[in-house]
Amino acid sequence: MVVSTRLAQARDEEAVFALLPQLLDVPRAGREVFRLLLSSDRGAVIVAEEGTVLLGLISMSFNPAIRYGGNYAQIEELIVDEAARGKQAGAILVRAAIAEARRRGCHEIGLYSREHTRAFYEKLGFVYSGPEVRLNLGD
Ligand SMILES: CC(C)(COP(=O)(O)OP(=O)(O)OC[C@H]1O[C@@H](n2cnc3c(N)ncnc32)[C@H](O)[C@@H]1OP(=O)(O)O)[C@@H](O)C(=O)NCCC(=O)NCCS
Repeated sequence: MVVSTRLAQARDEEAVFALLPQLLDVPRAGREVFRLLLSSDRGAVIVAEEGTVLLGLISMSFNPAIRYGGNYAQIEELIVDEAARGKQAGAILVRAAIAEARRRGCHEIGLYSREHTRAFYEKLGFVYSGPEVRLNLGD
């Protein structure tokens, strides 16, 4: 399998939203945010493909933090289509996100990892740094 990556484009929207249920319930405002990320310095979406088949995506936000004196990158969503898993597409997407975050001048990259994917990220060099604390602000 030859997997290539590139920044997502408007024409990827349907394929991207067809994959999202493999990770989460599709958010209400998701499409507006996806479109914003295509042309914004707030974040980016990268897709992986084999030929013309979209295998997966990774999205991230770029966030300013005083402690860095600049931005850090937060991986928001990572999904590889069930049919394409286990063939390095996920690792390729994470490496592409790291390269894009570096290119944008980010000082660090991280995510709120799920317990069952922690080892996947650790293989890619991420270091476990403790559980998160969050508050749902609801509607
Ligand atoms: C997690 C996910 C992105 C991995 O994608 P993938 O393409 O199957 O993973 P890769 O083939 O690139 O795996 C790279 C390496 O990590 C390992 N790995 C993959 N998933 C793993 C997991 N859940 N736990 C531990 N190791 C894992 C692979 O065995 C491989 O190891 P190797 O390089 O020694 O052979 C994919 O399973 C997925 O989309 N899951 C559903 C959505 C999800 O949970 N996303 C992550 C949200 S935090």
